[in-house]
Amino acid sequence: MEQLLAQVAQHKLEILAAVVTTKDELEVFRVKYLGTKGLVKTIMAEMRNVAPEQKKEAGALLNAFKEFTESRFQQLLDGLGLQEQSGTADTDLSLPGYKQAIGSRHPVSIVHNKIVGIFQRLGFTVAEGPEIEDDWHNFTALNLPQNHPARDMQDTFYISHAEEGEKDWLLRTHTSSVQIREMEKGILPLRIICPGRVYRNETISARAHCFFNQVEGLYIAEEVSFADLKQTLYFFVQEMFGDKVKIRFRPSYFPFTEPSAEMDISCLICGGSGCNVCKKTGWVEILGCGMVHPAVLENCKIDSNKYTGFAFGMGIERITMLSYQVKDLRLFSENDLRFLQQFSAAT
Ligand code: PHE
Repeated sequence: MEQLLAQVAQHKLEILAAVVTTKDELEVFRVKYLGTKGLVKTIMAEMRNVAPEQKKEAGALLNAFKEFTESRFQQLLDGLGLQEQSGTADTDLSLPGYKQAIGSRHPVSIVHNKIVGIFQRLGFTVAEGPEIEDDWHNFTALNLPQNHPARDMQDTFYISHAEEGEKDWLLRTHTSSVQIREMEKGILPLRIICPGRVYRNETISARAHCFFNQVEGLYIAEEVSFADLKQTLYFFVQEMFGDKVKIRFRPSYFPFTEPSAEMDISCLICGGSGCNVCKKTGWVEILGCGMVHPAVLENCKIDSNKYTGFAFGMGIERITMLSYQVKDLRLFSENDLRFLQQFSAAT
C-alpha cells in the first residue's frame, strides 16, 4: 500500500508538470495516461495485489488519481483551445509588438502640479472657486470699487450688467476672487493657494491669451510680514528653478496690496548676462505680490489691527514657458500632438 501511495504521488507530479502546446502532444498525453494501455489503467490493475483489508483505501486513492488525471487532461485541452483562439501557438514572436498609445501630461498641468506641490510642502492648502464670478468677489471686495481706474488693468469679459438690485456677472480675471471667498469664511489663520483658469479680453498673441491659468497665494495670521513673503517666494523659486537663481523685488501697484511689488528672477537662459528672453536685462518678471490692503481685510470682516497678510499671484503659462523655453503661449491651447508629446507622462 505504501508503495502504491508513493507511485501515485510520483505520477501526479509528472502529470502536473506535463506541458502541451499542440493537439498532437495532447493526444500523446491522453494515450500515455488515459489510453487503454495507459498509466491509469495499469495502476488500477494493481488493486489485485492489495491486501483485502486495504482494498477500500486503495480503491479511493486510485479513483481520486483517475479523476485527477482526467481533470488535468481537460485543463490542458482548455488551454490549447484558448491558445489556438489567440493564435499564440503559431505566433511569430520575432515580429515587432503593437505600440501602446500612452498619453502625456500637458506641460501646463506638469508645472501646475509642481507649483502646488511646493506650496503644499510649506503648509498651504488648495482652495478653489467659480470661474463665473460676481463683481464683488472679483473687484469691489479687492478694493476696486465701481469706476476705479485700475479696473482697466484687467480687461474683463462681462456676462451681464447689473440692473437695479442685481449683480454684475463676469468671467473672473484673476483667482484673487477665491481668496475673498476664503477670507469671508472667517476661519483664521489662513494659508491657501488658489490655482485656476482666468479670463481677460486681450488680443491673442505669442505673449498673451484671452484665458490662462494662475496660482495665487494668501497667508493671513497675526504678525505676518513682508519678510515672510520674501522668504516664501524665495523658497518657491529655488524649488522651482534651482538654487542658482536670484530674485529681486520692484515696487509696483495693485489696489488690493500695500505695499505692492513685482518679483523678477535672474534669467534662466543667460544666467543674468543678457539675452533675447530677458530683453538684455538679465531679469524676467514672474509674479505680483504685496501685503494685503487693510481695506480688503475689512471688506471680509477681518480685524486689520489684529491680522496682517501677504498675497501673490503668478501665471502658470509664464512659468511653463520659462521652464521649458517655449516661445509662443498659443502652443498651449492649440492641441498639436507634436508639441504636447514632448513632455513627460510621469509627473
Ligand atoms: N491678482 C493679480 C493679477 O492677477 C496678481 C496679484 C495677486 C498681485 C496678489 C498681488 C497680490 O495680476
